[in-house]
Amino acid sequence: MDINDTAQAFNKHFFGPNFNWGVSTAAFQTEGSCDTDGKSASIWDIFTQKKGKVHGNQNAFTACDFYNRYEQDIDLIKQLNIPCFRFSIAWTRILPNGTGEVNQAGIDYYNRVIDYCLKVGVEPWLTLYHWDLPQTLETQGGWTNRDSIQWFTNFVSVCANAFGDRVKNWMVMNEPAVFTGAGYFLGLHAPGRTGLKNFLPAVHHVTLSIAAGARILRDAFPHAIIGNTFSCSHIEPVSTKANDVAAAKRADVLINRLYVEPLIGLGYPIADLPVLQRIEKYMKDGDEQQLSFDFDFIGLQNYTREIVKYSLFTPYISAKLVEAKKRNVPLTEMGWEVYPQAMYEVVKKFSAYPQIKNIKITENGSAFPDTLKDGRIDDVLRTQYLHDNLQQLLKAKEEGCPVTGYFVWTLTDNFEWAEGYRPRFGLIHINFETQERIIKNSGHWYADFLK
Ligand code: NOJ
Repeated sequence: MDINDTAQAFNKHFFGPNFNWGVSTAAFQTEGSCDTDGKSASIWDIFTQKKGKVHGNQNAFTACDFYNRYEQDIDLIKQLNIPCFRFSIAWTRILPNGTGEVNQAGIDYYNRVIDYCLKVGVEPWLTLYHWDLPQTLETQGGWTNRDSIQWFTNFVSVCANAFGDRVKNWMVMNEPAVFTGAGYFLGLHAPGRTGLKNFLPAVHHVTLSIAAGARILRDAFPHAIIGNTFSCSHIEPVSTKANDVAAAKRADVLINRLYVEPLIGLGYPIADLPVLQRIEKYMKDGDEQQLSFDFDFIGLQNYTREIVKYSLFTPYISAKLVEAKKRNVPLTEMGWEVYPQAMYEVVKKFSAYPQIKNIKITENGSAFPDTLKDGRIDDVLRTQYLHDNLQQLLKAKEEGCPVTGYFVWTLTDNFEWAEGYRPRFGLIHINFETQERIIKNSGHWYADFLK
């Protein structure tokens, strides 16, 4: 059967009622208007101006122009039968100095977006932090500074007060392992810091900030639904040799366990990655009790699996990834293996924690090159990816895993961080010269699936 026609035989009803179906985006990747209406620069506005950091030295000054086109894009969400819209708030629009004076124009903007969602019948799901720290806070050390907990909780309070009367569903931070790993250890993402001396304090302050931010929301709105989103991959050792198996376990700590375990009350997974012991240097009395929160849901974001091998020369972890392009497997435009079973595996893995009682897939999707022909984009690979991932998710659900939601990454093609505009993840194509939008066949498929 043509993949485009499969949404009659396989559709949302297989997942039962009360399942949240959505699409996810992020402020920096879509909004543009980087200095409009009082917005200040974020670390990504600065990072994208440095030569050689982003593919083709591209920036997100305009991106998808969502700042001006939000009505059109929310109409498209509605047209695709998607009930929930996950998007993030740019801290720099709300608090241009990072803390202190609130910029009413920033609040007004997100009020317009939220109100428009509600007007057309799309449920807003807010991510408070999707990687765009105010640059003014970065110059004070960013997440390596313990004051960041104070800065962040202040930002959360402002957002709770401004939006909490209408927004019911919240995610505190997006993928902490990725933004601290790439931004504070590897230097590949903003702010471009490297090494353990930046990474470990950032990890600790981010973990404390997530838990503290969640408590602020809970106190302000006891009935709010509060989650956090975590990147995760299915991990396998390259062989059954003991050193490869042990290496895979250490990689699993960094990729899957580092944040979720302290946040659900298990503490940092130091026993399985001894270098994490050094985080204790940044811990103060009483921190241990402040690291966790009883989240209403855990957001999982899965795209692929990773194969790991022992590597004596990789500092701290003695493990490295066997790149997918060297494994003769199908790849996405990101160079990630297409491996839908990873969805099943990660959901099983996280469901095995007794503390995790509710999982939502807050991102899943794929980048492939698109060809526009006769005004249409027949992106069969992306449609197949969604179809196969959803089947794996259903399998996990039918085996009893507590999955209650699924959000596609992403609505429109957008700015993919250090990769720039080349990887196209959207259900909707954007011509970045004209800002014209065209729904891809994967978008039509998802609309049929959700009908
Ligand atoms: C995870 C991130 O949250 C999002 O910003 C990114 O674009 C997608 N994954 C794809 O890499």
